[in-house]
Amino acid sequence: DWTPDSFVESTVDELKAKLGNDKVVLGLSGGVDSTVAAVLLHKAIGENLHCIFVNNGLLRKNEFHSVLQQYEGMGLNVKGVDASARFLSALAGISDPEEKRKAIGRVFIEVFDDEAHQIEDAKWLGQGTIYPDVIESVSVNGPSVTIKSHHNVGGLPDFMKLKVVEPLRMLFKDEVRRVGASMDLDPELLGRHPFPGPGLAIRILGDITEEKVRILQEVDAIFINGLKENNLYDQVWQAGAILLPVQSVGVMGDERTYENCVALRAVESTDGMTADWVNLPYEFLQKTSNKIINGVKGVNRVVYDISSKPPATIEWE
Ligand code: XMP
Repeated sequence: DWTPDSFVESTVDELKAKLGNDKVVLGLSGGVDSTVAAVLLHKAIGENLHCIFVNNGLLRKNEFHSVLQQYEGMGLNVKGVDASARFLSALAGISDPEEKRKAIGRVFIEVFDDEAHQIEDAKWLGQGTIYPDVIESVSVNGPSVTIKSHHNVGGLPDFMKLKVVEPLRMLFKDEVRRVGASMDLDPELLGRHPFPGPGLAIRILGDITEEKVRILQEVDAIFINGLKENNLYDQVWQAGAILLPVQSVGVMGDERTYENCVALRAVESTDGMTADWVNLPYEFLQKTSNKIINGVKGVNRVVYDISSKPPATIEWE
């Protein structure tokens, strides 16, 4: 019978036998899958697992530092690489959603390849691929999607010539969470909402600037922290804020303002393929809207997205 404990035990044994004294490189995304994969590999091969966590500058507010600290606290051998400036400069002037994804994928591969080269004699690439990724061949989360969709651009980067080890290949998402829980991973980490690999880039409609990223990070943090404080976070499958390329008129004191509009989005779903908007309490929406408008300079209007998928998608790009 499959149990999380027996899975951990047998997988760690198999990984030990397969990997011996070899070094493994693994990209952490902050998400559940890559983290659980890393912890399993770490149990099997310890310091021979070399993790790389890239800051693309498009993560949630403070996320790079807090998640990196969490990884270090778990005993993982992890290198945090802040490549924000490189990503932002590659994105400058790009408004098309697919072009954004391509630019981010390309820079991610460059950064990851540079880092992987610094780990001498690495033999394997560890990945947090789960069963739905295998059958759909397109992951909804994490760096695997960017890696896969860029196979054919200018030859393979060296790290993609490594042998691949994917300890979660046969598991569904809920099983990954149970495996994580049986290894005592932080419940908060295991319960995290999915977050797209391109991050806030696809929640800033139009071109991306550092200032827009900062505004959206502030708005998103108010919304997400509010969900947590009001015990709504776990009732929602995914939530976030979108910075619209729309300015509208407002008043502040005697002055007219002409500033940005943000949309809040919260959905219920099981797999992201279909989704319903969540009926968040009006009082919560009211407080959140006030906090955002009073607290984030540059925003004077907040709207709530009441569209379901299909026909709307979860993200706006
Ligand atoms: P949509 O917008 O297609 O999103 O309804 C479904 C799920 O996929 C996530 N998503 C992405 N994840 N790279 C990712 O890693 C992407 O380019 C991407 N686009 C959408 C989205 O956040 C939702 O969970």
